[in-house]
Amino acid sequence: MQLHVESLSHRYGDLLVLEDINLTVQEGEVVAIIGPSGCGKSTLLGMLGGLLKPSAGVVKIGGRVPESCLNPLTYVFQDFALLPWRTVEENVAFALEHHAVARKNMAERVADVLCRTGLEQFARTYPKQLSGGMRQRVGIARALAVNPAVLLMDEPLSALDAQTRDLLMEDFADVWLRQSITTVYVTHNLDEAVRLADRLVVLTRRPGRIRRILPIDIAKEGRTDPANAVALRQIYDEVWQLIRDEAKDADQELAYAQ
Ligand SMILES: Nc1ncnc2c1ncn2[C@@H]1O[C@H](COP(=O)(O)OP(=O)(O)O)[C@@H](O)[C@H]1O
Ligand SMILES: [Mg+2]
Repeated sequence: MQLHVESLSHRYGDLLVLEDINLTVQEGEVVAIIGPSGCGKSTLLGMLGGLLKPSAGVVKIGGRVPESCLNPLTYVFQDFALLPWRTVEENVAFALEHHAVARKNMAERVADVLCRTGLEQFARTYPKQLSGGMRQRVGIARALAVNPAVLLMDEPLSALDAQTRDLLMEDFADVWLRQSITTVYVTHNLDEAVRLADRLVVLTRRPGRIRRILPIDIAKEGRTDPANAVALRQIYDEVWQLIRDEAKDADQELAYAQ
């Protein structure tokens, strides 16, 4: 499926948070949205998923929903709120219980997704027995279980330590290599964006406008290859300049407001 955003603006009361956003996310493309805190990233994601209605402009969702897809637009948040009284496999199955999935089919789907996310050995484990990174992995497994046509990810790794984040980043990269899923990945972490995205969308500070869209023309399989380190570093630095300027301005504005 693809997403198409046209002239989208949003305000909460008097507060304008997004202004004139125009963006198309192609089928199977991973687009990272980066921008300073408070610039409207989560708001934009909420509109893509239909949780919020924009004050102006339109969001169009097009293309075919695959037959195996139970929930076309699926969110992945920073905090997954796993059910503590359910095991890992029961937590993943939870995502399927609201859908008419036959019991056998459900068990197969759960087993498949646990395998894809490296959780087979933890199927009968309870969330409290897992580390933060593993719990996050369960949340991702739960999102993938419905075979989403579009993944909307809101800072999915922000609550994790750097090492766990690096490991999960590689897991995400693997998931997308095996199966292309149209994805909008909101983050303020440039490492994640440069490792995972096909294109980067840099937003200005609030009201969020598109400051720059940058394609990353290096295959995702090759992003950890030292041969591409210099090219990736250039992209990183270019985006970092943009973000730093925006963050600095936003920071100063906050300081004056206090
Ligand atoms: N429901 C709401 N009502 C009023 N203001 C809100 C609401 N949700 C978010 N905001 C404000 O809108 C701005 C953008 O929020 P958000 O989309 O969460 O930004 P980001 O995800 O980029 O940090 C922030 O200033 C935030 O305080
Ligand atoms: Mg946010």
